[in-house]
Amino acid sequence: MQSLSDPYYRIVAISGEGIGEEVVEASLKILRVVAKLEGFSLQVDYGWLGATALEKFGTYFPQATVELCNGSNGIVFGAVTQGGLLDLRKHYDFFCNLRPIRIENSLVHKSSLRPEKVQGLDILIVRELVSGIYFGLAGRSFDEKGAYGYHTMLYYDEEIRRIARQALQKAQQRRGLLAVAHKENALPHLPWTRLVQQEALQFPGVIVEPILVDSLAMQMVLNPQRFDVILASNMFGDILSDIGGALVGSIGLLGSASLNADGFGLYEAIHGTAPDIAGLGIANPLGTLGACVLMLQQWGEVKAAQRIMTAQERVLAKGYRTVDLSPQGAEILVNTEKLIDLLQEELFNTQHFEFGVPYESCK
Ligand code: IPM
Ligand code: MG
Repeated sequence: MQSLSDPYYRIVAISGEGIGEEVVEASLKILRVVAKLEGFSLQVDYGWLGATALEKFGTYFPQATVELCNGSNGIVFGAVTQGGLLDLRKHYDFFCNLRPIRIENSLVHKSSLRPEKVQGLDILIVRELVSGIYFGLAGRSFDEKGAYGYHTMLYYDEEIRRIARQALQKAQQRRGLLAVAHKENALPHLPWTRLVQQEALQFPGVIVEPILVDSLAMQMVLNPQRFDVILASNMFGDILSDIGGALVGSIGLLGSASLNADGFGLYEAIHGTAPDIAGLGIANPLGTLGACVLMLQQWGEVKAAQRIMTAQERVLAKGYRTVDLSPQGAEILVNTEKLIDLLQEELFNTQHFEFGVPYESCK
């Protein structure tokens, strides 16, 4: 089915730790099937980050990984407990982190909220990923009052403006609403509201709604359907996106894309290493697979992305659930491998035009 003139993509797979390897391998299986079906070639190289990199190279973020990633078409990443991930994000200036929070129709009863509160939920969190408190001046020291630690939340205005432009563009392509998470009553020197509103002049039709982040967190659990795009700084976006996991039924379902200005990206689930279930073969691969869907969309392989989303929707509609979704009644508990087998079967039966997929991209 494939020929020499087919599009060719090289990705770097980095498993990391915990359930990382299981969910990455599962997603790669699906990607390979979809590549065959849609007629593109996929090369996978394996890189290292975090504890496994430390063991092999003596550093969390080895040069060998950088060399592999350079010139590739994307990085598919599993999970790490600590070390390396922030360096990787910073190294490639992956400032634009897209975290779609969409609910599957068949999972509305899995939400932490009542079904009518989450039906049709479709939020896009746009999180700044390479600045703010994660990257500000930090350290530990001591003075006459004792030992202390500090992390500084610093943003250049231009860093806020550039992520604002991405979020505004997304809002313009969607329902035209942009909620901006800020904390200006306590942090007045980080004027997200003013800067975003200035950028918004270039995006007619987008309604900008600045909301204090504490209130925004509350509203996400009171009335999440009112949100379209949410723009947040690095730490606020991290916290708010986990609320998204509770809304859709499991954090194991959510994937993300982290893009730089060239459209090069890192694709990872938003969950962590889940050490309690690592190695048991029961992890939910749909978060990482969702990230791979975002990668396909970024490449313009929209049909392939649609195929995966349709297959996923069908498998879930038939009641198959990994353990994180706490199957009950007629629902069927499956492990990672079984879920992937079911998805593969559906992929062969799935036509890409059956479902529309909104395009998420940072370019
Ligand atoms: C995430 C994670 C990371 C973050 C951790 C692992 C550093 O929680 O991607 O949401 O805080 O960015
Ligand atoms: Mg997080």
